[in-house]
Amino acid sequence: MNISELKAGDNHYMAYVGPPTRYDFMGATQFRLLCTLGLRASHNMLDVGCGSLRAGRLFISYLDEGRYYGIEPNDWLIEEAIRNQLGKDLMDIKKPKFDYNSQFTTDIFSQQFDFIVAQSIFSHAGSDLISIALRNFKDSLKPNGLIVVTFIERIKDFDGDGWVYPGCVGYRRSTIKRFAREAGLFVTRIPWYHPNQTWYLLANDRSRLPNNAMMRSLSGVVLFVPEFTESWKRSQKIIRITKNYITQILPQPIKNSLKSLMANRKNNQ
Ligand SMILES: C[S@@+](CC[C@H](N)C(=O)[O-])C[C@H]1O[C@@H](n2cnc3c(N)ncnc32)[C@H](O)[C@@H]1O
Repeated sequence: MNISELKAGDNHYMAYVGPPTRYDFMGATQFRLLCTLGLRASHNMLDVGCGSLRAGRLFISYLDEGRYYGIEPNDWLIEEAIRNQLGKDLMDIKKPKFDYNSQFTTDIFSQQFDFIVAQSIFSHAGSDLISIALRNFKDSLKPNGLIVVTFIERIKDFDGDGWVYPGCVGYRRSTIKRFAREAGLFVTRIPWYHPNQTWYLLANDRSRLPNNAMMRSLSGVVLFVPEFTESWKRSQKIIRITKNYITQILPQPIKNSLKSLMANRKNNQ
């Protein structure tokens, strides 16, 4: 099967979690970020919505036995990842633990975590779920632990509830900060590159968040891969952000006309 023909959200373990051609990058960038933030093999880490272990396969190999925990309601994703990516031997050696709840329940493992990651989870969640999730994350976080999450930043808040998939939802920066405050957590936005979301860190202890000098090292750039040029070329990033902003402020009928115009142009080419 040619996985590049699949769309994000399709029923294949490499596509269900996002664009299948970025399965490698989206796992690697999470691993690189966590290592940059100080993840060591002896740490306990929880990967919420771990999906098909895009990142989990790297964390499981790196962490000591029994240190990786994953929550994922779609158990088939984990099974497919074990069959196609990790293999049973590695599971026997590293003994990762999984739970399949969809309520963001984190105390089932009876563990306190050094790191809790939720990549591309709040980009599909209403504010009801985000509030529950962040409160639970706080309860399961060590006093000096770190929560690492992504949000889609928008100029208007999504005002629905529940889980939205494979569609995406977004929030204003001020709302994202309010979510953290209401859960009793300190929060900061970091410049680590993400192709369409923004990384945030949350902590119980303000001093656990990176200071300005550290922020400069949190770039996440990828050199020599044209697809990720905007990770280090400011001009390209500005073009994408401007396009994104314009699309958000345009009224829906104009967006629809532009869409059909583009579709016609494509068909005529
Ligand atoms: C966009 S994917 C991201 C997967 C993974 N974090 C990654 O970066 O590869 C979203 C994942 O959240 C899972 N999910 C759906 N509902 C959830 C819930 N209530 N709690 C946790 N995860 C959920 C989906 O099954 C899917 O695997």
